[in-house]
Amino acid sequence: MAAEIISGTKMAREIRGEVARAIEEMTAAGEQIPGLATVLVGEDPASQSYVRMKNRAAREVGIRSRQIDLPDDIPEEELLGWIEGLNADPEIHGILVQLPLPDHIGRGAVLEAVHPGKDVDGFHPVNVGRMAVSDPAALVPCTPQGVVELLVRSGIETRGQNAVVVGRSNIVGRPMGQLLLAENPRGGDATVTVAHLFTRDLAEHTRLADILVVAAGHPGLITADMVKPGAVVIDVGINRVDDSSREKGYRLVGDVAFDEVREVASAITPVPGGVGPMTIAMLLSNTVKAARGLGGPLR
Ligand code: GUN
Repeated sequence: MAAEIISGTKMAREIRGEVARAIEEMTAAGEQIPGLATVLVGEDPASQSYVRMKNRAAREVGIRSRQIDLPDDIPEEELLGWIEGLNADPEIHGILVQLPLPDHIGRGAVLEAVHPGKDVDGFHPVNVGRMAVSDPAALVPCTPQGVVELLVRSGIETRGQNAVVVGRSNIVGRPMGQLLLAENPRGGDATVTVAHLFTRDLAEHTRLADILVVAAGHPGLITADMVKPGAVVIDVGINRVDDSSREKGYRLVGDVAFDEVREVASAITPVPGGVGPMTIAMLLSNTVKAARGLGGPLR
């Protein structure tokens, strides 16, 4: 039987509605309107498109958003100066520096420059540490947080399940593993395996998964023979593949061979329309959390 398709688009719409209502309440209570700054260095078309979507979604729920576009050759010191300015700006509660950054800029230095209480991406080492110890003040990376919401709101039990994460990036794979492993009945308490590029016989691991989360950046990596019948499959991959039949000349596909895996899985997320919209919804939710001062004290 074909799998249930989990619509991230629909669920993200619900969450955006919840965020919009929270902002209305904050405004009615005389609290500050949440403010988000997005920083984009260079002109990578995919990054431009993501940042545009994030700003549009922010404005739609009532967040004041400010987009800062900086040239590809900006010196690191100058970028750090922009971030310092945003750290000190009382109207800005969330700061997002879109990745990847140009090679001449130290990613670590930039991510550490963002004030942890405004770090709505959850990439600052303070937030990485807070998340690792399940501190409620952690600002948690948006994509894995979005996957947890997808699972919980779809009624998928994680406790005691075998969860296999394919990919160990700082943005998705590692935090995903930690959230699934956390002592938390809401999307945690799983038995977790994190597989990666050097994992021997990947299929041996993925076939054990009750919940399979794939964030590897390889189109079609996960085929039907690698999936246990009845498993829940969450596809985090967003890959552009050439397609001359499309106006843009490409189409977006995930890391999972959707058409064949949907015949084996019990539930599956599509690409696009799965995890992507949830990532943006969690960014909005993190911005409200930061504006409420719940992302740890501001220095
Ligand atoms: N590049 C790819 N994913 C992300 C993300 O979640 N946040 C930022 N800032 N950059 C990214």
